[in-house]
Amino acid sequence: MHHRFRPRRLARAALTVALAASSLVIAACTQYPNSVFHQRTDTNRDIGFLFEILIWFGSIVFVIVEAILVYTLIRFRRRSGTARQPEHVHGNTTLEITWTIVPALILVFIAIPTVRTIFRTQSRAASGALQVEVIGHQWWWEFRYPQYTSRSPTGKLDTVVTANELYLPKGRTVNFTLHSNDVIHSFWVPSLSGKRDLIANHTNYLWFTPDSAASTAYNGFCVEYCGASHANMRFRTFVVTPDEFASWIAHQETPAAFATPIPTPPAANPAAAVAATTASAVRGGAGAVAARAAAPEVTPPTSVAQAGFIAFPRDKMPAYTVPETPTPDIQYSDPYGDPARGATLLLHGQGACLGCHTIRGNPSMIGQIGPNLTHVGSRTTIAAGLYPNDARHLALWIKNARKMKPGVLMPTIGLNEYDPQLNTTMKAGLTDQQIADIVAYLQALK
Ligand code: CUA
Repeated sequence: MHHRFRPRRLARAALTVALAASSLVIAACTQYPNSVFHQRTDTNRDIGFLFEILIWFGSIVFVIVEAILVYTLIRFRRRSGTARQPEHVHGNTTLEITWTIVPALILVFIAIPTVRTIFRTQSRAASGALQVEVIGHQWWWEFRYPQYTSRSPTGKLDTVVTANELYLPKGRTVNFTLHSNDVIHSFWVPSLSGKRDLIANHTNYLWFTPDSAASTAYNGFCVEYCGASHANMRFRTFVVTPDEFASWIAHQETPAAFATPIPTPPAANPAAAVAATTASAVRGGAGAVAARAAAPEVTPPTSVAQAGFIAFPRDKMPAYTVPETPTPDIQYSDPYGDPARGATLLLHGQGACLGCHTIRGNPSMIGQIGPNLTHVGSRTTIAAGLYPNDARHLALWIKNARKMKPGVLMPTIGLNEYDPQLNTTMKAGLTDQQIADIVAYLQALK
């Protein structure tokens, strides 16, 4: 029995299937939070447009070619009875010119929007753009805002520096200047833009305008293999309203107050009285330091900063930005921590934190190797987006960072902790009480 073959119907069916499949793929991708198909910026819209027209035209070409192929296979198949044979030919100039010119035209057709998009996204950022320097480190991100500075107690102008959390105002183009401090990294916030490498001794640029959603957070990643904790080199990007950004940056410009607004210890806690006395002792006893911190030029504009927006509210964090990394087995007795004692410990170099970290406003904390901790208490995550920033995770991190994040430069600081990189147990280090005090101080640095 022989059915009449209808090439037109077959082609139509194939086209429908192809279109439905590609729509499904795109729809499925936009459901995922870390998808490049979110069109939240001009750059992602350009890239999305290019992707879509290439998918559609590619599908059309695919369907036409496959339809001709299938038609030929069926039409000229061997069958018993009628011995219909295709004509044997040796060269067909018209056909050969056609199948050269048609793909060439298709390539030109694809090249026009592609080249236009490349020129658009590679051009200089609009003047008036927010400038952000991104510096890749093994394995964390340093973000510098060179347009925003504040005068330190010593009179030095400090750029606003933060780590692993990027704040961007909605509607303003941001121009990233990308460098690496060591090996090659790659900066990527899929929902906002394409990726770009960070290379030592070479500057790359990337710009986009987050213009279609505010008050939300996105995940950012390192997407170039850079060593043991490459997968743990993450960051969060917060797109906020221009007002919130102004408030946030004004707060970032202020140094961490050395005599920080110290949380009152719980009344039931016997340490309360002691802590209160210690706090006042630190303010008075640290003489010159406290006096400088209290000098008019460094007084934090508390009216703006502390009353307004100083950090993205944690309860508004989308679920996909909250880290769920399991914590390794580290014993910690979790004693009550006193922020004033913690401040004093750091001021006196206990735990050697000052060798690597800066806390603007704390005169001995001027290290440059690790993340700047000036406003660390207001960050939502620690360890480059790996753990939530709470007292417990911070304590475990200080106690044994190398168990928390493989290969990390941060040394093992807990007394009698096993250091997996040095393969030895630390005979010097901080007690749980000292760690709890430092954690309480760091958590107070909002
Ligand atoms: Cu940095 Cu991978």
